[in-house]
Amino acid sequence: MGMINARRPLVIGNWKMQPASLSLTTKLGKELKKKLGTEREVAVVVAPPFVYLDSIRTILHGAKGLVLGAQDAFPEKPGAHTSQIAIPMLRDLAVQYIILGHSERRALGETGEVVNKKLIAVLKEGLTGVVCVGEHARDHAGHYLSLIEEQVRQALAGVSKAKLERVVIAYEPLWAIGTGATATPADVHEMRLFIERVLSDLYGRTYAQRVSILYGGSVNAKNARELFIEGTIDGFLVGGASLKADEFTGIVRAVR
Ligand code: PGA
Repeated sequence: MGMINARRPLVIGNWKMQPASLSLTTKLGKELKKKLGTEREVAVVVAPPFVYLDSIRTILHGAKGLVLGAQDAFPEKPGAHTSQIAIPMLRDLAVQYIILGHSERRALGETGEVVNKKLIAVLKEGLTGVVCVGEHARDHAGHYLSLIEEQVRQALAGVSKAKLERVVIAYEPLWAIGTGATATPADVHEMRLFIERVLSDLYGRTYAQRVSILYGGSVNAKNARELFIEGTIDGFLVGGASLKADEFTGIVRAVR
């Protein structure tokens, strides 16, 4: 039996390549600060595009309930790597969580090996890595389970037990991302137990339970409660709905 929501729930807003301007970003940041700035029961993270991180950091100043995340990072030390963003730069901007291996990045060619390298670097710098895993489609033979297992094992290769508290796994089936079609609470529950079993095989049950497991894919304020309770997960990685302050706040309330 999996651990049922025993830790503080975690909700991460992945803004992706949005909002489209600094003024819209500022507006969203201010609304979120007003609604969620004093949140205590849920750990709430917003992950804006890199170029807006500093503005959002300034807006969120003093809002203890909201923490900054980034959508990716480069696993090398600051140096000659044109266009890349180093993890210490993100830490310097108060970023605490880094999303890794999102399916939209994997679609651009990011391999499991690269995701692993990034996770190791993120953990080394003392930040939390949010590793996204998910299948393109489900098949009756259950091959999608082996794919998830492979993605989890590959991401965690070389990660020690001691670091697991700063590892989050976000299960995001590709067919549910931005489509309006969520996995069922039963699918989510099954996947939670499956990922927990893979982690137990790798680290033993006690350590495996240190890893938070999130669900992502068309989560909104209406479906969040049922997915959270019946899916027995630790929270959500939210895309589209994280760009609407009311909707995002509704999701946070649903996991309280
Ligand atoms: P969505 O995206 O909530 O818009 O489906 C989730 C994600 O890609 O993280």
